[in-house]
Amino acid sequence: MANDDQTQSPTLENLHTETRSFPPSDEFAAQANATAELYAQAATDGPEFWAEQARRLHWEKPFTEVLDWSDAPVARWFADGTLNACDNAVDRHVREGRGDRVAFHFEGEPGDTRTLTYADMQREVSKAANGLESLGLTKGDRVAIYLPQIPEAVIAMLACARIGAIHSVVFGGFSAESLRQRIDDAEAKLVITADGGNRRGAHLALKPLVDAAIAAGDHHPEPSATVEKVLVVKRTGQDTHWVEGRDTWWHDVVEPASEIHVPVMVEAEHPLFILYTSGTTGTPKGLFHTTGGYLTGVSYTHRVVFDLKPETDVFWCSADVGWITGHSYIVYGPMINGATQVLYEGTPNTPHQGRWWEIIEKYKVSIFYTAPTAIRTFMKWGEAIPAKFDLTSLRVLGSVGEPINPEAWMWYRRVIGGDRCPLVDTWWQTETGSIMISPLPGVTATKPGSAQVALPGVSAAVVDDHGDEVGPGHGGYLALTEPWPSMLRGIWNDRPRYERTYWSRWPHLYFAGDGAKRDADGDIWLLGRVDDVMNISGHRLSTTELEHALVSHPWVAEAAVVGASDETTGQAVVAFVVVRSDAAGADASGHDVSVALREQVAKEIGPLAKPRTILVVSEVPKTRSGKIMRRLLRDVAEHRPVGDVTTLADSSVMDAIREGLDSGK
Ligand code: WT7
Repeated sequence: MANDDQTQSPTLENLHTETRSFPPSDEFAAQANATAELYAQAATDGPEFWAEQARRLHWEKPFTEVLDWSDAPVARWFADGTLNACDNAVDRHVREGRGDRVAFHFEGEPGDTRTLTYADMQREVSKAANGLESLGLTKGDRVAIYLPQIPEAVIAMLACARIGAIHSVVFGGFSAESLRQRIDDAEAKLVITADGGNRRGAHLALKPLVDAAIAAGDHHPEPSATVEKVLVVKRTGQDTHWVEGRDTWWHDVVEPASEIHVPVMVEAEHPLFILYTSGTTGTPKGLFHTTGGYLTGVSYTHRVVFDLKPETDVFWCSADVGWITGHSYIVYGPMINGATQVLYEGTPNTPHQGRWWEIIEKYKVSIFYTAPTAIRTFMKWGEAIPAKFDLTSLRVLGSVGEPINPEAWMWYRRVIGGDRCPLVDTWWQTETGSIMISPLPGVTATKPGSAQVALPGVSAAVVDDHGDEVGPGHGGYLALTEPWPSMLRGIWNDRPRYERTYWSRWPHLYFAGDGAKRDADGDIWLLGRVDDVMNISGHRLSTTELEHALVSHPWVAEAAVVGASDETTGQAVVAFVVVRSDAAGADASGHDVSVALREQVAKEIGPLAKPRTILVVSEVPKTRSGKIMRRLLRDVAEHRPVGDVTTLADSSVMDAIREGLDSGK
């Protein structure tokens, strides 16, 4: 996609002044899993370095090939080996005497708890795998998972992997419409869902959204052609509409099934999952990852970046399993490493604003991984809240999802980490599968706001428009220059889009879509997206997708969406809409329009995409070739003087927008 403008990140201003640096303590460095030698080793060994990491997995048939890049940009890693993801994440630990170790301390939002050891997990995933097979599922079939953050979500994913089925998890905050789009694209045969989940003290229904997704609807006149069964976990006990013959309860299918199941061994390049993510156009991309390389990447990075000591640590990643962070750092990475984890269903402020810190105290969490948007929310709530809890069990902190501003970084380190825990800012994407750029906690002197260095084995560069590397002190685009095992293998059923999106800007370089800068030391600072992708609370949303959702409302003639910087959520959705003159029912104040359109977005995409601000304008600024000038709208949304308007087809448009806003519209 051509871009008419570039995102400016709010962190940019800080970069010129940030000079603080925090080296690891001697005690931490002395016990760390990764030392500085790992960089040298990776540089010397090349792809063989990754083979060494891959050999930590359990292979049924060991691989002899490492990397096959002959079909670039689709990589094949360890291709002649066979293994099973669930066997590595669960059975192996039981086999090797770790069955009694707790895999999950589950904490439901209402306060219900469940403890699952690795041996318990083996029984649960085996029953679920038998259940799935009894429903007719087999290797290669696609399964959509639309569940709250409960153990069954993890069990369902692993049960799919166990039988070689490919899961496609859809985050519960997506609408029926978004779910349908993903079901259709992946041609899912089964949907696994729940009656509902607990959210802010209420029961949030999920099953009706699945019913709506599968049935005929506004954008799809026919019911789903592929879904045969719906498997429903009883979580809240709320009343649930039932379609006889299609719907079955989890407790009827899974509970009575046998606790013995032999994992289906698959080739290393067998797809493990599809995960949809927003791109620069209207349709989400079904990114897919395969088994051997992905598992190698997530387990290696989880071990070295978080310094996991599986016998003693308690790891908590606060992400939802519906996002890549949950896939890689709740399900696959930590479980392959035999970690003990916390899994929490609810929101940080239910029933009180100290819930997360209470959980850390209760389970003695030692490694905590969360997002900057959460940190900024806690800063707003005040440090007196975490101060009420004992957080001394913590020893490593991680951040992910968006650039972390130095103020939030410093607060996180001081208030949560007691000035004692190394803080790693980890840059990666759904596409990369695992962390690519991050300090190593026992090696790197960390800098507030910088992800700093590519991990051993990863090759990153900051390049200019021509793909040439920029020098220290310069900015450009982030690129990855060598294939890595956990890289995406493509966009489901759309190789041309895969090549166009990531590999067409420069030959042989992976285009990440992020702006970046090298400081004088050569450290990398991420500056936010350079395409039409927004990052709202660490969630990726497409401006184009939102504009489509808005113009599908009968009142809207035209819409332009920008991600404007927001103190808490990083970016927030601001929509400029032109209302039809015949929009019956819309009042002049724009209030009705705003309410109706927020609902429209919730219905089309999901509540997570609702615009923060909707501004009714008389026209949207466009270039002479008809492209929306989002840069100018972002200036307006962020209350800056509007920049260069010379490429506008009609430069009076911006004056009209500003006048409209000043007059209190
Ligand atoms: C985009 C990927 C990968 C986990 C969650 C998001 C932004 C992610 C950082 C970071 C600056 C970051 C980038 C990236 N991002 N982590 N530490 N510093 N930016 O996954 O939805 O695939 O989004 O999130 O813009 O491209 P995702």
